[in-house]
Amino acid sequence: MKQQSIAALSKIISYVWFNKRETQLRILMTCVITLFMIGLSLSIPLLFKKVIDVLLQTTTLSQHTVLFILAGYGACWVLNQVIRQVKEMFVFRILEKGIRSLTLDIFTHLQGLSVSFHLNRQTGLLMGQIENARYGFEAACWGIISFLFPIIVEIVLAITLLTYLYGAVYGTLLFLIMATYLLFSIFFLEKASQARELYNEKRSQATASMVDSLLNYETVKYFTHEKHEISQVDLLLKHQEDEGVKSLLMVSWVSIGQGVIIGVGLLLITLLSGNAVYNKTMDVGDFVLINGYVLQFVMPLSFFGHILQQVRKGLQDMSAILNILDTKPEITDNPQAIDYRADTAEVQFKAVSFGYTAERTILDTLSFTIPTGKTVALVGPTGSGKSTITRLLFRLYDPTAGSIQFNGYDIRSLSQHSLRKMIGSVAQETMLFNDTLYYNIAYGNLEASEDEVKHAAHLAHLDEFIAKLPAGYNTVVGERGLKLSGGEKQRIALARAILKNPILYVFDEATSSLDMRTEKEIQKNLEEISAGKTTLIIAHRLSTIVHADTIIVLENGSITEQGTHDQLLAMQGLYYRLWNAQK
Ligand SMILES: Nc1ncnc2c1ncn2[C@@H]1O[C@H](COP(=O)(O)OP(=O)(O)OP(=O)(O)O)[C@@H](O)[C@H]1O
Ligand SMILES: [Mg+2]
Repeated sequence: MKQQSIAALSKIISYVWFNKRETQLRILMTCVITLFMIGLSLSIPLLFKKVIDVLLQTTTLSQHTVLFILAGYGACWVLNQVIRQVKEMFVFRILEKGIRSLTLDIFTHLQGLSVSFHLNRQTGLLMGQIENARYGFEAACWGIISFLFPIIVEIVLAITLLTYLYGAVYGTLLFLIMATYLLFSIFFLEKASQARELYNEKRSQATASMVDSLLNYETVKYFTHEKHEISQVDLLLKHQEDEGVKSLLMVSWVSIGQGVIIGVGLLLITLLSGNAVYNKTMDVGDFVLINGYVLQFVMPLSFFGHILQQVRKGLQDMSAILNILDTKPEITDNPQAIDYRADTAEVQFKAVSFGYTAERTILDTLSFTIPTGKTVALVGPTGSGKSTITRLLFRLYDPTAGSIQFNGYDIRSLSQHSLRKMIGSVAQETMLFNDTLYYNIAYGNLEASEDEVKHAAHLAHLDEFIAKLPAGYNTVVGERGLKLSGGEKQRIALARAILKNPILYVFDEATSSLDMRTEKEIQKNLEEISAGKTTLIIAHRLSTIVHADTIIVLENGSITEQGTHDQLLAMQGLYYRLWNAQK
């Protein structure tokens, strides 16, 4: 836990200090203002002493001077309040800029993480962690800049000043009071925060139990176990109650302890200085000044403990996200990766083996070629590894053995960006952004003109459908495109792949949700678009791939048959049986 807090702290420093010149200037300004503020607040007791000296006539000054000093005393007080706010104004930008950098860093990192991370993530949990980190950053950063730093500087200066004015005894005494207070607070607040963690844990357990019970409300009803559910939740709530009281009591005890330390300190200093006044080694003004310094710290110190706790909690809240920032993507660009560009594509799988986990092989020493400008079709039973092949080609995963070559280059030697730019893919599951139809199609090429977007929509047979919509291209498709039918989604996916204008097309069941007639019409367009372009088609409906130059039959991750439609029929193997079954 300690180590994570230190990591979080260094992260904060890096976001705040190494952000930009402008932020550094702001921090320096904040420091200057803070020092000025401290100067003011330390001079207020000094002026107060002066006023008392004058009023008790231990010094002789003209009436004008006295009134001037009194006015100065008031002005200092007002100025102090104003400057405190002005300083905050400088801090706002530092904070918000830091939060922005942190959030953008997290987002960039998440974009760069591999598919397997995203498959395993729990979006709700992740979003919670990001929010926690943002609040944590803000609380910790604000606490440090606005409170901890100024208070510590102020205390050091006050001790120095007291030592200079009244000797080491007073300085040391003030130092001892502060040190005891701080050590006491840090030690017991740590204990209190442990108690708080336990309380949070109990609270999460109670919440989780309620959510689980509500999700399964049907089961609860079927078995009439409402009473059982309620008593189970109540048991957890009882634990929560106990831990809550414990942690709150702890904080109260800490506050009492802090009060006692300050009280005893104040008592000692008052006794010492009061005695000195009695013995005439000190003026009443000095007595007031010393008391002023001690009292001046009681206020900030009383929330020092609270702020310290906030900072601790903030740092703690950041730690979950820092762990994620530390996860390295599994797929990374080779340092020597080239930004490759080409006008044609030839793909070769050379003895490629792959499994998502070490225990289960999905593809077993697979070799085949998609020659330049040719169309290769992959067919085979469900789960045989067809979509897996497209994921490997896209380099979402790396093969465990063998290599995939693009125009003779191992795809691991090309930058991921340049590789994926060359491939236009329609995946088996279409995911859309919760935005307009137009946006979703135009996503294929962010620079495309409106005419190009509409032409792509036309090729994917979308225009007729879009014309029927009241909002036309501006229709919002709903989360993940759930407001569209399966066939409509597929055609959008096709349109945006067409718009990308790649040199290699990969269609994974790209027309499987369409009715026969629409599929035929689109098929014609697709053949025109992909004419002369290297194409990989995956299909269960064999009628859509009869025209392919080569058909590969995949079974259990191995190629069992390969050839043209007529050759495969002549072999009378799996393809022949599938073909007859579908006829
Ligand atoms: N992320 C994953 N982690 C573990 N196993 C996976 C993962 N994705 C797919 N699989 C498994 O890999 C096997 C091959 O999956 P793949 O999606 O390549 O099949 P497919 O040939 O495309 O099937 P379909 O015709 O149903 O689309 C399946 O048994 C599947 O359960
Ligand atoms: Mg598939």
